Amino acid sequence: MSEKIKLEKQQDGWGSKMGLILAMAGNAVGLGNFWKFPYMAASNGGGAFMIPYFVALLLLGLPIMIMEWQLGREGGQKGENTIGPMLYLYARSGMKPKTALTWGAIAGGLCFAITLLINSYYTHIVGWTLNYSVMSFSGEYMDKSKNISQLFVDNISDPIRVFFFWVVVLVLLAFAVSKGISGGIEKWAKFMMPTLYIFAIILLVMAVTTKTPVNPDWSALKGLDFVWNPDFSKLSWANTMAASGQVFYSLSIGMGLICHYASYLKKDDDVVVSSVATVSLNEFAEIILAATIVIPLGYAYLGNEALTKAGPSLTFITLPSAFVQMGQPMGNIVGGLWFLLLFFAGFTSSMALYSYVSTFISETMGISKKKASWFIVIAYLFIGLPIAIETIINKSGATYYLDEVDLWIGQYFLLILGLVEVIIYTRCVSVERQLEINRGALWKVPKWFVTVLLRWITPAFLTAVIVFATWERYKMGAFKIISDKEPYGTLWINLARVMMIVMFVFGCIITRRYIKNKYSNEIEKNIKIQA
Ligand code: ALA
Repeated sequence: MSEKIKLEKQQDGWGSKMGLILAMAGNAVGLGNFWKFPYMAASNGGGAFMIPYFVALLLLGLPIMIMEWQLGREGGQKGENTIGPMLYLYARSGMKPKTALTWGAIAGGLCFAITLLINSYYTHIVGWTLNYSVMSFSGEYMDKSKNISQLFVDNISDPIRVFFFWVVVLVLLAFAVSKGISGGIEKWAKFMMPTLYIFAIILLVMAVTTKTPVNPDWSALKGLDFVWNPDFSKLSWANTMAASGQVFYSLSIGMGLICHYASYLKKDDDVVVSSVATVSLNEFAEIILAATIVIPLGYAYLGNEALTKAGPSLTFITLPSAFVQMGQPMGNIVGGLWFLLLFFAGFTSSMALYSYVSTFISETMGISKKKASWFIVIAYLFIGLPIAIETIINKSGATYYLDEVDLWIGQYFLLILGLVEVIIYTRCVSVERQLEINRGALWKVPKWFVTVLLRWITPAFLTAVIVFATWERYKMGAFKIISDKEPYGTLWINLARVMMIVMFVFGCIITRRYIKNKYSNEIEKNIKIQA
């Protein structure tokens, strides 16, 4: 690594505690909270989804969050900002460095594919939210005679809109990330996150005070009852799997992002309180704000059936129908604030994904992070191209490529990477080293946190979820080469698979090369390192 890049790495870091917490919250709070969670909860039984959700939050979300903060803080002290080498540094104490190298490379490859490909569709959706925010404020779809579903299809198949908003998002991301951690990411998060919470609270007050504007049987209160009053007969393994995937996605765990941001901490910075703060801010945004805005609003304006059947279109089709019902100017303002809120949430998470990829490219290719950030705009114009082309060509609103990437990368690879991390963390180093979590911590985690919860309960639960998820995918035909989603399904789905495999393999190869060069002496000797 050149001296210039070393210096750039050493000089980068968080400017303030508040900035760090807001950036971490920005990392976690994203489209997953405001776009995915409401439709996942609505279509998986409302209250019946919340029970496995809380179980997954306690057994997977919180412990992995704390572990990832520690992994990152320790990795950062050793000059590492990405997950492959961070895990190598743990693994080499429990196995020979050559085997540890393989695990580091696999983790690095998984993480590269996850961050690069999630962001390849995420930046498009962030672009859509910006487009919809402009359309809402300007009242473009406020005419009751407009078909809102068709409007969505028209928007995502209009090449000018698709490319314009996507490129704006990419350029803003490159600009923010190229300025570094305190000079870029932290500044954007300090503005966007408080603004997002203010918008959300305004919308929440508006949503819960909605009475029965359309039908006497549809009210916001009934929507709240649907989320918070579980129907135990609807509890299932499928709900548990969906809830666990949602916890991972929404908290940004199993993506390397928490470790990445935490790698810029100082040696004694508290990771326990910070982890709890990140989880709390994320859950406040997800289960208090998002659920209390979207579900009651959807219920009051559109009724139970439209709400539970909406799926991913809830945000872009169902809710705008509610905004139209509100009339002007109320609908314009509420719709505009909602989509701007989504834009801020999506942008701050996208920044974390983008920063990870830039750092990875900078480290492994030996170029500065500033250059890497701009280089990635060009790379994304190719990697994200299938999503733009698919929506423009299909003209039906179908997003086979995006759905396939999300199905595997956004809901499955995360769980695998989470499992690899937990196993290496709890099985390769001493309990004392694992309990380094408590260094500088105001609240200390007890010994059983690592010896029982992280070592046994979290991986057992996670393994069960992965096995079930694999079986479910098999039953739904996710392994078939020929898709029944014709005419274009087979083409797009297989293209997505090729892309995922290529990115994973490429990520493994370059992570392996990076670790091998940096730690060549110990890998040569191949003797376990007790550190
Ligand atoms: N955690 C981010 C989200 O919820 C990726 O969207």
